[in-house]
Amino acid sequence: MKHTDIRDIFSDAALVGQEVTVCGWVRTARNSKTMAFLALNDGTTLPHLQIVIDKSTGIAFEDAMHLGASVKVTGTLVAGQNGGVEVNAASITVLGSCPAEYPLQKKRHTLEFLRTMPHLRGRTNTFNAVLRVRSVLASAIHQYFQSKGYVYVNTPLITGSDCEGAGEMFQVTTQGFAPDCKSAEDYYAGDFFGQRAGLSVSGQLEGEMAAMALGKIYTFGPSFRAENSNTPKHLAEFWHIEPEVAFMELPDVIELAEDMVKYVIRTVLDTCKEEMAFFDAHFEKGLIDRLEELISHDFAVCEYTEAIRLLKGSGEDFQYPVEWGCDLQTEHERYIAEKVFKKAVFVTNYPKEIKSFYMKQNADGKTVAAVDLLVPGVGEIIGGSEREADYDKLVAAMHERGMALEPYADYLDLRRYGSVPHGGFGLGFERLIMYVTGVQNIRDVTLFPRTVGSIR
Ligand code: 4AD
Repeated sequence: MKHTDIRDIFSDAALVGQEVTVCGWVRTARNSKTMAFLALNDGTTLPHLQIVIDKSTGIAFEDAMHLGASVKVTGTLVAGQNGGVEVNAASITVLGSCPAEYPLQKKRHTLEFLRTMPHLRGRTNTFNAVLRVRSVLASAIHQYFQSKGYVYVNTPLITGSDCEGAGEMFQVTTQGFAPDCKSAEDYYAGDFFGQRAGLSVSGQLEGEMAAMALGKIYTFGPSFRAENSNTPKHLAEFWHIEPEVAFMELPDVIELAEDMVKYVIRTVLDTCKEEMAFFDAHFEKGLIDRLEELISHDFAVCEYTEAIRLLKGSGEDFQYPVEWGCDLQTEHERYIAEKVFKKAVFVTNYPKEIKSFYMKQNADGKTVAAVDLLVPGVGEIIGGSEREADYDKLVAAMHERGMALEPYADYLDLRRYGSVPHGGFGLGFERLIMYVTGVQNIRDVTLFPRTVGSIR
C-alpha cells in the first residue's frame, strides 16, 4: 500500500505543504463541535502524528474515531502548533475497525497488566521504545564485532553436552512414554539422535572450537535454561552474545567486555534519543546521565576475595549469608555495584567450586580465572573467563565434578591439538536491555517471555 512512514513524515521537512498518505493505528480520538482529531501511530516512531479533521469538509471520519482502529489517511502535511507537523485530512479509510472492548485504552496501563496480552502490548509506547532500543542494541553489537574483524558464527541450539554442567538443560526428544525401556541408555538409544539431547545453555564450547580455527569469533543467538528461577532477571529462553578469542587472557577478556559495553551504550544514546528520553521520564529519572557517567569512566575491577571482605564488613543484613566460597546473590552483586563502587564492576577470580569446569585454574589451587560484570540496578550482566587450556588440568576438573568425559571428547581434543590460551564471555542480551532502559523486569524487554510456568 503506497504510504509514507510516520518517522519520515517527522524527519523530512520537504514534505510540509505536500499531499501525503499515512497509515497507522488510532491511539487517541478527540471530537469537538467543528473539528475532530486523531493521534496516529504506525510503529515506525515513538511520537504520534496528529490528524486534523475539519468537519465542514464533510469527509467521513466517525468510523475512525475508535482506539485501536487501523486507518489510511490522505491529506496535506502542515506545520502544527509546538513546532511539529500535522495532517489536514482530505480522506480517511478505515482498514480495520476496533470494538470498544479493545484492552489498550488511553490511560497508562501497568506492566503487569500488559504482560497478560503479549500479542497487543507491542502497540504501547513502552514496547515501541523497548523494541526499538533492542533492535539498535543488536545492530550495535554486530557492528562492534564486525568492525574488529570477529567472525559471526552460529552454534547449534540442539546439543549433546551441557556447557555449564549445571543440569539446567531442556530435553529434546521425539519419544513418549516408553514402558519397555530397561534403562535411561536404552531409552535414549531409541530416541531421535540415538543419545540424550537438549537445548543449548550456551554456545561457548562450539564457540571455542570456532575460535581455535578463526581466532576471533562471536555468537549471537538464543540460549535456554531450565532454571526454576522465578525472578525479575531470569528467562527460560534468552539471547546470548558470546565472543571467544584465541590468545586472550583474563585481563584481555575484561578489556573487551568493557569496550563493547561502552560502544553499544554510546550507540543507543546517539541513535535512540526519543526512546531514551521516554525511559528517563517514565522508568528511571536520571537514566541518560547515569549511562553517560558510566561510559565516561573506567569500570572497577575487584577480586572475589575482596568482594567478600567488603560484603562481610558492610553491616548490611543480607538475606543470604556471606562467606568465602559462597556464590554471590543478586543482593550482594547490587550492593557491590551500587553502594561500594557506585558503577560497573568486574569481579574476578572466584572459588573454583562455584564456577564451571572449563575455567582456567589459578596457581593458588583455590580459584579460577573467572570474571562477572556487575552493574547497578541489575547485578550480573556478563559472565566469562579465561579457559583452561591444559588437557590434564581440564580432565582433573571434570573428574572432580563427576563429569563423563565422552560427551566432551571433541572439546578435550582442542587441548591436544595446538592448545592456546584463550577466553571469552557471555552477555545476556535482555539483561543489557534492562540496564540500558531502566526497565526492571526481564519479562518487559522481550515481547514473548518464556519463564517457569508461562509460555504464551
Ligand atoms: O554466566 P553464564 O551462565 O555464562 C555462560 O553461559 C558462559 N558459557 C558464557 C561464556 O563465557 N561464553 O551466562 C552468561 C550471561 C549471564 O551473565 C547473564 O547475563 C545471562 O547470560 N543469563 C541469563 N539471562 C537471562 N535469563 C537467564 N536464565 C540467564 N542465565 C544467564
